[in-house]
Amino acid sequence: MIKLRGINRTFGRGDERTDALRGVDLDITEGEFLTVMGPSGCGKSTLLSVVGMLDSEWEGEYHLYDQAVHKLKPKHRIDLNRQYMGFVFQQYHLIDSVTVYENLEIPLSYRKIPSGERAKMVDAILERFQIADKKKQYPSSLSGGTQQLVGVARAVVANPKILLADEPTGNLHSAQAREIMELFQELNRGGTTIMQVTHSETNAAYGMRTVEMLDGGALKN
Ligand SMILES: Nc1ncnc2c1ncn2[C@@H]1O[C@H](COP(=O)(O)OP(=O)(O)OP(=O)(O)O)[C@@H](O)[C@H]1O
Ligand SMILES: [Mg+2]
Repeated sequence: MIKLRGINRTFGRGDERTDALRGVDLDITEGEFLTVMGPSGCGKSTLLSVVGMLDSEWEGEYHLYDQAVHKLKPKHRIDLNRQYMGFVFQQYHLIDSVTVYENLEIPLSYRKIPSGERAKMVDAILERFQIADKKKQYPSSLSGGTQQLVGVARAVVANPKILLADEPTGNLHSAQAREIMELFQELNRGGTTIMQVTHSETNAAYGMRTVEMLDGGALKN
């Protein structure tokens, strides 16, 4: 489903240069629940951004289904992100100028879901995460943990085929973290392909396979 070959990503130049990804190869099979682990700064978030089509400034080959992503224009890549992917950002990246409800509605608007249907889907996920009372609030008024829950809710609300999650429980207490991992497992059993980045062995245990990243690449199973 996803095939990466020789992916390089460099930030900056000269003395400031960082080779965040160096020749990364990775295959992800449809229906897989993959975990990526590795020390801080080894390139995990950078890799997730490449897979999630949020970054276009890399070199190498990337195939998604039958599409050669490396040959597509950035705009087309964004379309693929909107069509297939849900993304949980390490730093949440909620839109502060709109309410929790509106944040969750955005991914649905990309998929041309009628507004009545959207409202039901947003309400269902807010109920599930027990944050229905936060619906009309703005993200900046919420605790870090609640913002993280909203970030996870936004990633899953539109039932994406591929869920990419960067430290999705880093700011949650253990009971909430368990609920998120159980939700991921349920989605995975329903056919969602998942790639998660985590430092937690507990979270990794929910996945089927773990790859270790070391210093910009060297993925090993
Ligand atoms: N926008 C950027 N500009 C410059 N350097 C960057 C940028 N993003 C990442 N880097 C560098 O690339 C390397 C990999 O960063 P990345 O965020 O992918 O690591 P990570 O494995 O996700 O770390 P963590 O576990 O702390 O989240 C680091 O050296 C980082 O400083
Ligand atoms: Mg990171």
